[in-house]
Amino acid sequence: MTIQAQATEAAIPGKPTAASRTTLSHIMTAADTNLLGTVHGGVIMKLVDDAAGAVAGRHSGGPAVTASMDEMAFLSPVRVGDLVHVHAQCNWTGRTSMEIGVRVMAERWNESTPAQQVGSAYLVFAAVDADGKSRSVPPVLPDSERNARRFQEAQIRRTHRLARRRAIRELREQQPDE
Ligand SMILES: CC(C)(COP(=O)(O)OP(=O)(O)OC[C@H]1O[C@@H](n2cnc3c(N)ncnc32)[C@H](O)[C@@H]1OP(=O)(O)O)[C@@H](O)C(=O)NCCC(=O)NCCS
Repeated sequence: MTIQAQATEAAIPGKPTAASRTTLSHIMTAADTNLLGTVHGGVIMKLVDDAAGAVAGRHSGGPAVTASMDEMAFLSPVRVGDLVHVHAQCNWTGRTSMEIGVRVMAERWNESTPAQQVGSAYLVFAAVDADGKSRSVPPVLPDSERNARRFQEAQIRRTHRLARRRAIRELREQQPDE
């Protein structure tokens, strides 16, 4: 479905991308390291989930749960003393779900060198009500050409996610475990 069609069809007024965009920043310490002495991937993933969750909550105006996280890429190691910035925004909305795109940047906490991208991820959040049941979300209104492109790319990922899930489900139904 196109962005315009979604916005027209939705009963809830849309919200621009900028309305829920969020940045979460954190200085990495020795408590965040793995056995190699660099920052544990799980620490970064927690920050990614936290930042994306804040965007999903802000965009949907209520509770939202992580349904999936994919294409988590770690581009460079993160070190103790790095100031990590996790930028998150709503790329796409369906009826009850949202794709949140996340970019992870790192810079030395006490130097004025530019931040480098160290990771990225896409998460799907489902908006839920007090009983944990799915609820409708406002359509996201991409507010730039870049965000319109991100919407289209997210739609492609969505199509692939659903197709993969369906194909695996069908295969399992044909070949049930003994
Ligand atoms: C996510 C959850 C609410 C989906 O429940 P469900 O019964 O499958 O609900 P639905 O089929 O109505 O799906 C709701 C929306 O989420 C999407 N969705 C569900 N599972 C998905 C997945 N694995 N990947 C991508 N999207 C997914 C659906 O496509 C639908 O989106 P749409 O309405 O925009 O088309 C449910 O599986 C859940 O509560 N999971 C646990 C969440 C959680 O605890 N997260 C924290 C992990 S520690």
